[in-house]
Amino acid sequence: MKTYNIGIIGGDGIGPDVVAEGLKVLRAVMKDGGFDCNLVGYPYSGAYYLKTKELVPDKVLDEWRTLDAVFLGAIGHPDVEVGLVERSVILGLRFGLDLYINLRPIKLYAEALCPIKGKGPKDIDMTVVRENTEGEYTQIGGILKKGTPDEVATSTSIYTRVGIERAIRYGFELARERAAANNRPGHLTMVDKANAIRPQEIWTRVFAEVGKEYPDIKQDHAYVDAFTMLMIQQPEKYDVVVTTNLYGDIITDLGSILQGGIGLAASGNIHPGKTSMFESIHGSAPDIAGKNIACPLGAIMAVSMMLDYLGEKSASKRIEDSVAYLLSSGQIKSADARSGLSTTQMGEMVVEQIQKSA
Ligand code: IPM
Ligand code: MG
Repeated sequence: MKTYNIGIIGGDGIGPDVVAEGLKVLRAVMKDGGFDCNLVGYPYSGAYYLKTKELVPDKVLDEWRTLDAVFLGAIGHPDVEVGLVERSVILGLRFGLDLYINLRPIKLYAEALCPIKGKGPKDIDMTVVRENTEGEYTQIGGILKKGTPDEVATSTSIYTRVGIERAIRYGFELARERAAANNRPGHLTMVDKANAIRPQEIWTRVFAEVGKEYPDIKQDHAYVDAFTMLMIQQPEKYDVVVTTNLYGDIITDLGSILQGGIGLAASGNIHPGKTSMFESIHGSAPDIAGKNIACPLGAIMAVSMMLDYLGEKSASKRIEDSVAYLLSSGQIKSADARSGLSTTQMGEMVVEQIQKSA
């Protein structure tokens, strides 16, 4: 029997709450799924930093490279310097393990969850391929003469040919896969801001060049400001969307609302063939931590994405189908406190649905 080594980082706030439900669901599909998981817990979080002053040591990053995958809750503590632990754990994983794709599906399972009038599941099914190791996130820059009237802050965006090409290629391949799976033409949209930020013209050129290899895929482009409008106004026009690190961060928070809320949204931080990391896209929400009211569906869907990545396609699909059924049948009415369900109740409902589908 195949055994996967999975690193588990609960993190801060609601992170451990939602991870616990994700693991319940993982155990439920493992039971008759023909595979096993060896779970290795890691304490890194803002809370752990406050106690120990320890961030992620290099040797732990090396250890993570030997795992099959990492499942992460959320990082961020109100008493810790802004971004310190996020950069160590989340960006540490993304940059340290070169997880160059951040895959963020935006899929609506029930019309009632969508705040846009008249849009249903047939209209909202796109996937954002967010470049995950470059752009504004490289931490190149700093502040000179900080705190004085003369202070100067710089932040340099990095776009490499290699980094752009691998993200765009991944987008085209995914568009092809989705086209084949759904028996319809594929479509890839590239989102940038190359009219105002001219160096982003490198994205325009690489997209056109790589696009020649994919004549079967419809190709178009939108500036990110217009795209925020278009994805709300006509979400049915989009299939796969490839974009920079920062734009991908922003449009996927917006996109999560199309699918019913940030509590539902999952992501995979992927380096194809290597250890990859899966997480819900929401933050640590310290105000609702430990109250058993956070929505665990994003974390549960992250487990589904993780299993899909590991090649456990049927276990992955059983999770997705169970969540989809609970949402479309109205048993789970929303991805927030209005559902009237607790974190643990939602987790248990998914587990029960999986058992029924066995
Ligand atoms: C996300 C988050 C992170 C990001 C933060 C916590 C560093 O917003 O995963 O979308 O900006 O990428
Ligand atoms: Mg974000």
